Amino acid sequence: MLNQNEKNAPVRVGIIGLGTVGQGFLRLLLKNQGLIRERLGFPLALGGVCEKNPETLKGLTLPPECVVYREWKEMVLDPRISLVVELVGGLEPARSILLEAMKAGKSVVTANKALLARHGEEIFGAAASHGVDLGFEASVGGGIPILRTLRESLAGDRILRLAGIINGTANYILTRMSREGLEFETVLSEAQRHGYAESDPTYDIDGIDSAHKIAILATMAFGSPVNLQEIPVEGIRQIKPIDLEFGREFGYVLKLLGIAVDHGDSLDIRVHPSFLPENSLLSEVDGVFNAIELSGQALGPLLLYGRGAGGDPTATAVMGDVMECARGVFHGARAQVPALGFPFSGRIRRPLRPISAIFSEYYLRFMAQDQPGTLSYLAGILGDRGISIESVIQKGRDRGGSVPVVVTTHRATESQIRDSLAIIDASHHVTEKTVVIRIEDVSMEGSLS
Ligand code: HSE
Repeated sequence: MLNQNEKNAPVRVGIIGLGTVGQGFLRLLLKNQGLIRERLGFPLALGGVCEKNPETLKGLTLPPECVVYREWKEMVLDPRISLVVELVGGLEPARSILLEAMKAGKSVVTANKALLARHGEEIFGAAASHGVDLGFEASVGGGIPILRTLRESLAGDRILRLAGIINGTANYILTRMSREGLEFETVLSEAQRHGYAESDPTYDIDGIDSAHKIAILATMAFGSPVNLQEIPVEGIRQIKPIDLEFGREFGYVLKLLGIAVDHGDSLDIRVHPSFLPENSLLSEVDGVFNAIELSGQALGPLLLYGRGAGGDPTATAVMGDVMECARGVFHGARAQVPALGFPFSGRIRRPLRPISAIFSEYYLRFMAQDQPGTLSYLAGILGDRGISIESVIQKGRDRGGSVPVVVTTHRATESQIRDSLAIIDASHHVTEKTVVIRIEDVSMEGSLS
């Protein structure tokens, strides 16, 4: 309960790492100081900052009471700091900062999805054992309040499935490839020149960043620890404009999706490019925007859409967490809601379905010899393995090579598709490896079966 002697004493927050998000947080704190105080009912003060780059520090105006720490350990151990915000990114020293701060009895806030996806068990376990709050809203979807929605607003409902566009860089690239018919490499290098894509874009374009985020979302939605290494992940490097064009003819738009489905005894969690019907909500999410669609058993469908990156939007998520942690400190009532929405020790680990066992509809682009019998050969191999064809397009004429033959299928397992393609791709009927893109059922009617 509130200690009357300390009624007007501010809760002091310390920030480690003043990059884009850190500076966004400082701007928000300064700009909305009055509003934040009104909402909290007590003052929140910037008690300290720690930043390795002296140039960054030189450019900032800090409040007079703010201590500049040379070493993160000094801040973490300073009893005047009640809350530590880790915004350095990467695995170390971020992991040690969070663990040491919690050990010192401080609540912590982070935006570090890679760290939580890889070392979540250790970090969430430490929050539970030290009885402190751990806020990580900014780790998924930037400014979109998806984690608090799962943890609190939907705490009484069962989440059946989730699908999200959770990487803005990949979505920007796919949007431009689709609108302008450009090659992947052309859009990527232009995006890098303009600073929209990182100089090392591997995590964004190979689906790894989306895998970190879907691991966090699935852990919170389903109450099961998720082993990042077991998530099947495909990125967008191999996507060709011709497939976006064919997809459009079938009425589809391509998106890099993170997908998580609760099948009761197992979970289906994966990241890959997916064709979505052009009239679905997610297919309209373009450019750097993110969106997460979910289905609750009682709620039905829900869509959250917004800016998934950037200093100011992500800073709002950090601030929401900081204010929640600050209330816990001020009122002496921390960890009222477990960080993951489920008690740490009360979670039940469920196995992940291997990709071979998933059901989907498929887009298959064969580069086929334009000869009598080719189509019946392809249809025969698919039909023999129980795969039903939905539609077929062949475009152009063979000019000494091969022609694209595009088939869309009804629902089949991935192993049916792989078995068929192993035979087809080894035959003389095709000249290249067949392109396979899953077509996602976005009816959001859920699962548990
Ligand atoms: N690199 C991420 C993206 C933003 O491109 O969406 C931070 O999560």
